[in-house]
Amino acid sequence: MTNGSTKRHVVLAYSGGLDTSVAIRWIAEKHDAEVTALSVDVGQEGELTGALDRAKRNGARDAQLIDAKATFVEEYCLPALQANALYEGIYPLSTALARPLIAKTLAETAVATGADTVAHGCTGKGNDQVRFDVAVHTLAPSLHIIAPVREWNMNRDDEIAYARTHGIEVRTTKESPYSVDENLWGRSIEGGRLEDAGVPAPEEVFDWTGHPSNWPESPELVDVEFVQGVPVAVDGVRLDLVSLVRTMNRRAGLHGVGRIDHVEDRVVGIKSRETYECPGSVALITAHQALEALVLPRDLLQFKASVDRRFADLVYDGLWFSPLREALQAFITSTQSVVTGHVTLRLHHGSCRAVGRRSEYSLLAHELATYGADSRFPQELAVGFIHLYGLPNQLAHARVAAARAAIERTPDAARPVLRTA
Ligand code: ARG
Repeated sequence: MTNGSTKRHVVLAYSGGLDTSVAIRWIAEKHDAEVTALSVDVGQEGELTGALDRAKRNGARDAQLIDAKATFVEEYCLPALQANALYEGIYPLSTALARPLIAKTLAETAVATGADTVAHGCTGKGNDQVRFDVAVHTLAPSLHIIAPVREWNMNRDDEIAYARTHGIEVRTTKESPYSVDENLWGRSIEGGRLEDAGVPAPEEVFDWTGHPSNWPESPELVDVEFVQGVPVAVDGVRLDLVSLVRTMNRRAGLHGVGRIDHVEDRVVGIKSRETYECPGSVALITAHQALEALVLPRDLLQFKASVDRRFADLVYDGLWFSPLREALQAFITSTQSVVTGHVTLRLHHGSCRAVGRRSEYSLLAHELATYGADSRFPQELAVGFIHLYGLPNQLAHARVAAARAAIERTPDAARPVLRTA
């Protein structure tokens, strides 16, 4: 309750789409509240300032836009890149990474404006509600949370009818039949015809990757430079991280890289068909992984892969603000001091492969690996090494063979009794 009014004050995470446009009015009525519409810019395409004006015309007391693009790429996408984070080995977690930042911004805005409640437009079936709610509970436990879409029991047509009867202005462009979420790390498309996992995604769902008939005939090579695990330049041009991710989205998207079609396991236990376009993140993770393979020793690479996987699961599961995520990130950061160098990516017809990599910290030592005359690997020592290396296995194999032979010779009556009658 602020401004001397007795009304409740709610800060709503507002995207400008149908759900949150209807939510402004619905919250105001059902909860007798004043609503502040908050848009957090994490690099979604589309016109956010027009959406703010609309929010006010639709009854918001106030509408704010916070530019969080730099924070998003530096504090959320970069750790995910260094973790090579791919949920179920395939999804770069674009939506999942933005949710905790949006929730944090929402909570901070509520606290700063004296609101006691936040609201979001998530359904009761998805992961996003988990990510929002867990983040808000963690960071600002005294805030109440309203999730209209989870409560109001309206389908899309009901929402459109509600908008009409209440004079709610919705986007002038035709509402897409799909649920789309965008940010710098990627674009998620779900719902509509995509719900049938047996049918290929219709071309119309794609936006960042263009039509396959427009993918260039010839492959293109792109050089990505990293310094301590941070991508700093593309084709020799130094870029800040926001511009670099945008550049990679454009360059890789042109070749159709980063289209993902996946049956995904949600936190709430539902499997669902998810479609993504993540050209920049897929290309950068491919490059980062290739550089790590060059500069990190085998045991560290293997151990880090298990840390990376756990990191990805935590992000997906809405546990960004957790001690475990912070601790895993600290480990990952400590591995990145040698992840400096260049990777050449080859982009062609939807594929992105690392085809070259070099680093001053490369562990690929020519004098050890070469078959040429300048080899300094002492091959004559290999015989002794292999003998000792294989010795425990040789012994264990012999013992197992002896045990099995002994079992074969044992009469049934003398074998261990597993079950009494
Ligand atoms: N399944 C993805 C995730 O949980 C994407 C969710 C996308 N949300 C949307 N409104 N399209 O991270």
